[in-house]
Amino acid sequence: MSVDGVPAQWDRSGLPGWSYTSPEMLELEKEHVFRRSWQIVGHVNDIPESGNYMCLDFFGERAVVVRGHDGLVRAFHNVCRHRGSRVVAEAQGQCKAALVCPFHGWAFNLDGTLKAAPRPRHLPTLDPVQHGLKPIEMEIWCGFVFIRFKSGPQPSIAELMEPFMPEISHYRMDKLVPTEGFWTGSTPVNWKAVVDVDNEGYHVPIAHPGLQDLYGDHYMDEAPVNGVTRSHGRFNDGPARLWSVQRYKTHLPEFEHLPPEQRNIWVYYGIFPSTVVYLYPETVGFYQQFPISENQTVLRGAAYMQPDADRRSKLARYLSTRIDRDTTKEDVQLTIWSCEATKSSGYDGIILSDLEYGVRAYHDMLRNLMPVLNEDEAPPPGTLAQMNEQLIGQSPSP
Ligand code: FES
Ligand SMILES: [Fe+2]
Repeated sequence: MSVDGVPAQWDRSGLPGWSYTSPEMLELEKEHVFRRSWQIVGHVNDIPESGNYMCLDFFGERAVVVRGHDGLVRAFHNVCRHRGSRVVAEAQGQCKAALVCPFHGWAFNLDGTLKAAPRPRHLPTLDPVQHGLKPIEMEIWCGFVFIRFKSGPQPSIAELMEPFMPEISHYRMDKLVPTEGFWTGSTPVNWKAVVDVDNEGYHVPIAHPGLQDLYGDHYMDEAPVNGVTRSHGRFNDGPARLWSVQRYKTHLPEFEHLPPEQRNIWVYYGIFPSTVVYLYPETVGFYQQFPISENQTVLRGAAYMQPDADRRSKLARYLSTRIDRDTTKEDVQLTIWSCEATKSSGYDGIILSDLEYGVRAYHDMLRNLMPVLNEDEAPPPGTLAQMNEQLIGQSPSP
């Protein structure tokens, strides 16, 4: 195992412990990180028919992505222009000719324009566009629908991922179809603790018997390029020890749409701040994290397969899911233990190895956006945002 591109000299300490427990820090992260960065809602083939929609909620933001009668996919705030109700209540579903708000029945066309409101005599004159659903910035990249609530410094997803397209293009991602739909869960830790665990492979040999058995001898993290990391594990040579890994390697078909070097490798792309797109030979999927509070994080994801996936591919998918299920459970426990430590009187910061350079690089990205993270001690209550603004003002221009 190694990490490519590690500088000879680098600071091996992590973010300050207070930043994992501070509600004020979380408010700053919502504004500077989450609202301004791209988030996956799903894949265009999660909503193949007109009127199909899918939603993404996080910390008060509510998005609905809907396919119109013209076949186009659009993203809107799921906020009724009348009194702010959700216009669709479910996380995913189907509406007919319009999105009809469940509160008083205002109806919005699938292109977001206001169609009609009940009892119009009692309302002021309403303009279909001006009083339509508010659009959200959206980008469709390889079939995946990304949105962001505020524009920010991040380039488009297409630009971010461009260096990796020679590999990614083989997976025919725009053709993928959903498998089991969206999954969600939550974990009682700060969101950064989840990403910290995800950003290094040093723990794989000890903490993840399944992954170690599958690819542990060859696992490698690469240093981020424009905030995107690539990690990969080519399958170990020889027979596997664990039942699910051994069966997975045996049943995995030789996919002809993939070049030979992509037929026995799992690849993970980490997109700042907290999204991972993973490419397995039989499955492509994503997972992401959103903070609910300073000590509660939502995990969400979905998996996809090629539209012509046969029985062997589906068996391989079943087996890779079993491996991943164990890995997720193991990682959740690790995040809980490491996050708890920041409250301990025995906690004295962390020491990162070269193999955990991805954690440091990620912390640097956060520090660049929010320089208050360079403070060893928590700022006095009520001063964090102001102190951060002052520090931004003092930073040399890029
Ligand atoms: S809040 Fe939507 S119709 Fe009243
Ligand atoms: Fe892990």
